[in-house]
Amino acid sequence: MTEKSLAAGSLGGTSAHAQQRATRGLWSSRWVFFLAATGSAVGLGNIWKFPYITGQNGGGAFVLVYLACILLIGIPLLMAEVMIGRRGRQNPDGAVARLAREAGASTRWRVAGWLGGLTGFLILSFYLVVAGWALAYVPATFSGGFAGVSGEASGELFGALLASPLRLVVCATLVLAATMLIVGLGVRGGLERSLRFLMPGLFVLMLVLVVYAAIEGEFAQALQFLFVPDFSELTAKSVLIALGHAFFTLSLGCGAMMVYGSYLPEGTSIAKTSVLVALADTAVALLAGMAIFPLVFGNALEPGAGPGLIFVTLPIAFGQMPLGQVVGGLFFVMLVIAALTSAISLSEPSIAWLTERFGMSRLKAVLVSGGLLWLLSLGSVFSFNLWADYQLFGKTFFDTLDYLTTNWLMPLGGLGTVLFTGWVLKEATVREAIGLQRDGLFRAWWLLLRFGTPLGIVLVFLNLAGMI
Ligand code: PHE
Repeated sequence: MTEKSLAAGSLGGTSAHAQQRATRGLWSSRWVFFLAATGSAVGLGNIWKFPYITGQNGGGAFVLVYLACILLIGIPLLMAEVMIGRRGRQNPDGAVARLAREAGASTRWRVAGWLGGLTGFLILSFYLVVAGWALAYVPATFSGGFAGVSGEASGELFGALLASPLRLVVCATLVLAATMLIVGLGVRGGLERSLRFLMPGLFVLMLVLVVYAAIEGEFAQALQFLFVPDFSELTAKSVLIALGHAFFTLSLGCGAMMVYGSYLPEGTSIAKTSVLVALADTAVALLAGMAIFPLVFGNALEPGAGPGLIFVTLPIAFGQMPLGQVVGGLFFVMLVIAALTSAISLSEPSIAWLTERFGMSRLKAVLVSGGLLWLLSLGSVFSFNLWADYQLFGKTFFDTLDYLTTNWLMPLGGLGTVLFTGWVLKEATVREAIGLQRDGLFRAWWLLLRFGTPLGIVLVFLNLAGMI
């Protein structure tokens, strides 16, 4: 079946539909799906963002709320997204439209899928730039560029990177090229083959770093900071930041998990796999915390330093510790790998959309979206230098994109998906598609999805609107 006829099948009757469901590329095993979904979830969100927001929000109590958000909102939504993808067997836009048609509802709900693809595309344009910073830090660290560096000097080195459009463009372009190369090879080739060694490699590197930090850093103090909750540190805003981060870190509300679900073979338990993905994602975030905070405390650095935490403060630690060059270099390699597996999933919804909706070849879709992404990423690059003074409501282009996607588009897409699943699809259809064997479990999930999850998301919006 050609891609053109796949696209035609999406518009055609049930036999074409059944044929398409049967012939579209699938993950070769449940293990590969698990790797891919974990690769999507684990990224800059876990290693760069989680530690710095935990540092800013007081540690243990924030971590506890974040874990509750993953459990009560993240996992139910993750299951719904994977289910829609698998049932719809298409890009998010087409999958939602198909399920809506099956339920006799308006295909306008496809906006929930379509918006997701767009959100993923926008996130990717600035995600590439941050991943580029990590890439720039690989040679800088391995070559000993941070040896004995002071806090001020480290800040200046990071500032010098941000001030150079050329370095930023080169690094972001390399990340983009690697992403598009892997995606271009297709789901069965590129994604699978790379994920098979990327994800286990990441875990091993992370463990090595934690062991190193445990030996060399202030491990006990870090554990106390991360796991002993002090509720006096918790504000209403921290609770909502934790909720928002649950979306970002599990790759929800932007089509990524839906499109990965669309390649999931029948018969795999969506619930079990989703729980495992969330566990793996949380484990990496906690490991990142356990690797970073012992170094932060051991070197009397500031846990609440903000987004610069790893790029400004860690090099100081790496510059001081014995073997810091190697440990630091490995750390940034790990960060690039983690970002790459997330970037792949961020690009896949729009690539699948271009091939399936417009019948483009995969190569052409990769070139078209790669080109657009590159142009858009220039906006983020120039936000730090040439265009730093052009601001909209006090935000640069980069900040605006980040703010718009993380705080508005992702929760909005997630809300659409939750409402669509819980209130538009027929309960019997969902029950069959999700494949939860035990009735009690299905009931619990269904209740959470219909009431708890939308309520949580609406709270985020109310907070942003300044109403609570
Ligand atoms: N979850 C990824 C991370 O933590 C980011 C991401 C968001 C990836 C949305 C895909 C979709 O870095």
